[in-house]
Amino acid sequence: MEQVIIFDTTLRDGEQAAGGMLNIQEKLEIAKQLEKLGVDVIEAGFPIASKADFEAVRVIAKEVRTPTICGLARAHPDDIDRAWEAVKDAEHPRIHVFLSASDIHRVYQLKKSREEILQTSRDMAARAKKYVDDVEFSPMDASRTEPEYIYQILEAVIDAGATTVNIPDTVGYAIPEEFGGLIEGIFKNVPNISRAIVSVHCHNDLGLAVANSLESVKRGARQVECTINGIGERAGNASLEELVMAIRTRKDFFDLTTNIDTRQIYRTSRLVSELTGFTVQPNKAIVGANAFRHESGIHQDGVIKMPITYEIMDPRTVGIPASSLVLGKLSGRHAFKERLTELGYSLSEEDFNRAFATFKELADKKKEITDKDIESLIAQELRTVSEVYHLDRIQVTCGDRGIPTASVRLIAPDGQVLADAALGTGPVDAVCKTINKLVGVPNVLTEFTVKSVTEGIDAIGEVLIRIESEGITYTGRGADTDIIVASAKAYMNALNRLLATRKAASSS
Ligand code: KIV
Ligand code: ZN
Repeated sequence: MEQVIIFDTTLRDGEQAAGGMLNIQEKLEIAKQLEKLGVDVIEAGFPIASKADFEAVRVIAKEVRTPTICGLARAHPDDIDRAWEAVKDAEHPRIHVFLSASDIHRVYQLKKSREEILQTSRDMAARAKKYVDDVEFSPMDASRTEPEYIYQILEAVIDAGATTVNIPDTVGYAIPEEFGGLIEGIFKNVPNISRAIVSVHCHNDLGLAVANSLESVKRGARQVECTINGIGERAGNASLEELVMAIRTRKDFFDLTTNIDTRQIYRTSRLVSELTGFTVQPNKAIVGANAFRHESGIHQDGVIKMPITYEIMDPRTVGIPASSLVLGKLSGRHAFKERLTELGYSLSEEDFNRAFATFKELADKKKEITDKDIESLIAQELRTVSEVYHLDRIQVTCGDRGIPTASVRLIAPDGQVLADAALGTGPVDAVCKTINKLVGVPNVLTEFTVKSVTEGIDAIGEVLIRIESEGITYTGRGADTDIIVASAKAYMNALNRLLATRKAASSS
């Protein structure tokens, strides 16, 4: 059976989503999980965009060995040279060059003639080819470009050495039949097309990214560019999990396969959601909380009798834990370890000991510890940003009579103990004000959300906070059975991220 190449751009186009900034450690963690998931290509970033982007691509290229590691470059010599510097240590490096092709972009943005665009495309594909065999070229905004002109560009870049030609629906404008027609036209009208893989890159502005990608696959495209949970610029990109599960579930229709280990889908989705702070909507196909829940009595009756009546996929094939086993105060190390293994975690001894200690603390406060609690706990324990300030103690008083007051004790990087107190409009405001007095970094809180991890009054509360400072957004997360403590943890997490980013920028 023929295979569709899965090109994941969560770390590049996905990270371009407003407010989705990730640090290098987080990108590396996602890249390692994408490797486990079995993606063929990871677009790890846009190396010329910033020092941090360059560094992230370089580290991923060094450490993630199975997939192809790709760096994005505009059709400029400096971009291409920088992309090569970033990916050159990869086991399988790729440079992805793009240049706008549509009249709309050409006339209003680039102010270049068609001949100039054609020449630059050819020259820059050739420049990338001097560095590496695996070169991808994208004529940006292809879906709004005259097909004959796309054919010319593709022929030129393939002659110059491009091995993958990617057709972007940059603004999510295409309709499946029309976009499929473009792909078919490419196969018919580009004389050297058999020397390249045809790829598609669809955005979701009209909610058609997956439909457009699947239509293209049906018409011969053999690479799809996509992101986990469909995150990305504006309305996002085609969602990896939807594409992969459509190809798998409807094998009868597509007669195609992918390299993806679908059992890793759920974990990857959770990880990306936790690290980017983008919550997955409950009705999201494949990975949403309701994707496999049946509410109607008739459906429940059917599923109990025979799951296939209302379930087209077995939730276990996407890695949704089947067991509803709950742990509690009496559960020991062994039971906890087993549950972690079943959920797909393999922790070092030291990480396990820390996680187990937190599990025991939680079990003292909460009667039943579910899989979701464990996922939240692991996220907190193992994904803390390298701490600059450590939150040591926090105390609040609030209610409808007194003025909300918080006192906070932090441990500074040099080990000094810092303590202060402040009043606020509410307990969270008082906590943030006190922390700000102690840390002294101007910032604006732009988002604050609380959600409970599970049902029940004793549930863990997860808080997500975004702060903005000097035009950059930093996301922080915290979890605790006490939502004020969770808020303090989330705020510290965002501030630590800000301080770590500034420190890294000033030392490079
Ligand atoms: O949407 C787009 O056109 C892109 C290109 C860089 C491929 O992201
Ligand atoms: Zn894009």
